[in-house]
Amino acid sequence: MPAPAEPVPSLPAASAPAPSRLIQALILLAISASLVLVLLLLLLGGARSDPYTRSTLELVGSEQNGGRLFRLNCAGCHGLAAQGLVGPDLHGVERRKNDRQLIQQVVSGRTPPMPRFQPEPQAMADLLAFLHSLPS
Ligand code: HEC
Repeated sequence: MPAPAEPVPSLPAASAPAPSRLIQALILLAISASLVLVLLLLLLGGARSDPYTRSTLELVGSEQNGGRLFRLNCAGCHGLAAQGLVGPDLHGVERRKNDRQLIQQVVSGRTPPMPRFQPEPQAMADLLAFLHSLPS
């Protein structure tokens, strides 16, 4: 009579949870990655849909009125012909900064000594038209 087969030893208990721990870690990773993604999208979406910027960009600016506003508010630092003085020469600035960045430059006050301006959207659109009209 053959000896009864040795029961196949079951896997040690300690190693059993390992794969499920890995899965848990992966799930956690996936959750945190998607949270970061959602946050990023919210931030970017917020910047894109900032109502002030949006309404400014919807308007058609008057280069002439923009020039008048520029001479009143900006020429002291950037020069009457925007040639640069305390602030930089603004010719060709549209190649360095897009419209959103130009608006931010004017309204944010993030680069002292340039002050924070609060023009109405139409005035901001006029300033943009003026900046675009400067030969680069
Ligand atoms: C008190 C001085 C001052 C006044 C007034 C001022 N600026 Fe400036 N501006 C600066 C300085 C200084 C910088 C450079 C900031 C930096 O990048 O560190 C600058 C930068 C800029 C830039 C970015 C230039 C670049 O090369 O990226 C733009 C555009 C600009 N100003 C537009 C304006 C407009 C439009 C006005 C008027 C509504 C204005 N500034 C009024 C001082 C001034």
